Amino acid sequence: MKLYIVSNRLPVKISGQKGEFTLSRSEGGLTTGLDSLQTPYEKHWIGWPGMCIQENEDKNKVTAKLESMNLHPVFLSESQIENYYEGYSNSTIWPLCHYFFVYTLYKSCFWQSYQEVNLLFCKKISELIQPGDKVWIQDYQLMLLPGMLRKRYSNLSIGYFHHIPFPSYELFRILPERAEILKGLLGADFIAFHTHDYMRHFISTVERVLHINFKLNEVQLGDRVIRVEALPMGINYNLYHDAPSKPEVRQAIDRTRKLFGNHKVILSVDRLDYSKGILHRLRGFASFLEHYPQYHERVTLAMVIVPSRDHVGSYTELKTKIDEEIGSINGHYSTIDWTPVCYFYHGFSFEELSAMYYMADIALVTPLRDGMNLVAKEYVASKCGNPGVLILSEMAGAAVEMTDALLINPNDTEQIVQAISKALEMPISEQQERLQRMQAIISAQTVNKWATDFMRGWDESFYKNEKLRKK
Ligand code: G6P
Repeated sequence: MKLYIVSNRLPVKISGQKGEFTLSRSEGGLTTGLDSLQTPYEKHWIGWPGMCIQENEDKNKVTAKLESMNLHPVFLSESQIENYYEGYSNSTIWPLCHYFFVYTLYKSCFWQSYQEVNLLFCKKISELIQPGDKVWIQDYQLMLLPGMLRKRYSNLSIGYFHHIPFPSYELFRILPERAEILKGLLGADFIAFHTHDYMRHFISTVERVLHINFKLNEVQLGDRVIRVEALPMGINYNLYHDAPSKPEVRQAIDRTRKLFGNHKVILSVDRLDYSKGILHRLRGFASFLEHYPQYHERVTLAMVIVPSRDHVGSYTELKTKIDEEIGSINGHYSTIDWTPVCYFYHGFSFEELSAMYYMADIALVTPLRDGMNLVAKEYVASKCGNPGVLILSEMAGAAVEMTDALLINPNDTEQIVQAISKALEMPISEQQERLQRMQAIISAQTVNKWATDFMRGWDESFYKNEKLRKK
């Protein structure tokens, strides 16, 4: 029996062109977590290989290579990338679920393409599955897929995890296709979210849009009961906690130390995204420099921004604004010996990132909205013995578990300034105590535990439905 994990992207990145393609494994939390998941099922993955491939010959080559790793590609055309991925997924649903409804675009070609691509995934799954297999769908790009599969297979076991926030009814109701999307999700036997709030919003939205009532966390539709749950996703804790003792990471720590000298380092790591509050953070840091001149030439903000969705207008504009803001801070405060913001517009290797986490005095994680935020957890896990302070936005799902962080409202610049100052002054013993308490939580709630809990809840709902069907 097989477990098919289905997500918009496969856990590998394809690069290259015509005839010559190379694959690199992505280090994302989901990939490493599901790799370590112990299950009697043979694991397979279905998703887009991340770039547009035109020629059939190339598609066949890539498919053969991927299938040898139990990965099954769904190829998207340029127009589908534009309208389904950049369009409905990332210009309609993403801004809406992150409470940026002014960025939300409604275009019928987006919706058409979203339906078309969800159907493409449905067809790919239909080619592969056998009786007894399970299909675990990931995230907002594929919200219609559970319903499409349910129409074809009444007793297929379908699970869905929503990795981004689920907004309140007042926001979700704005979406013209709200009913279709919710009905699509309810095709699953088991639906889970990172936090209770997202789950509560989902339940009230279903009740008010579809006029059906939940009993606690379950709702009956015909002969099926759908269960929803809150399961916070974690990280591969040991991977990060053990990293600083590895020789390659030690070397990277030495190189990073040389770069920052004896300055205090404030670290910020994000994908380029307006939901991450990068501009608010920069303004907070600028205000800190203005009000605490004693820290000039003593503190550096290391800002890592990983390029993302750069064909979507709101992301391109944000990149320009960030470049300008950093330019303005550095232009104003830099001296011969010091550049306040050290800016990297690219990703880092796992070893280099672990080194930065290990040596950074502060992690400044201030999203305006974030489903979970794994950077906060990775930073805390990487601190094996070394002190450090996590400043974390209340608007990140991770804030529910990480109450020993300095929690701030990212819209309040004054709070960011105060938190930076408090973190810089915090006694080492208090830093260690806070870190240890957070480590106890995140080392228990790992990504493997998350996946195992999901599988358990999903199995229980599926078997309950089997019984109902047999009655
Ligand atoms: C978020 C989403 C994921 C997505 C990732 C990267 O974490 O929840 O579904 O894969 O961002 O975004 P991208 O658009 O590059 O896949």
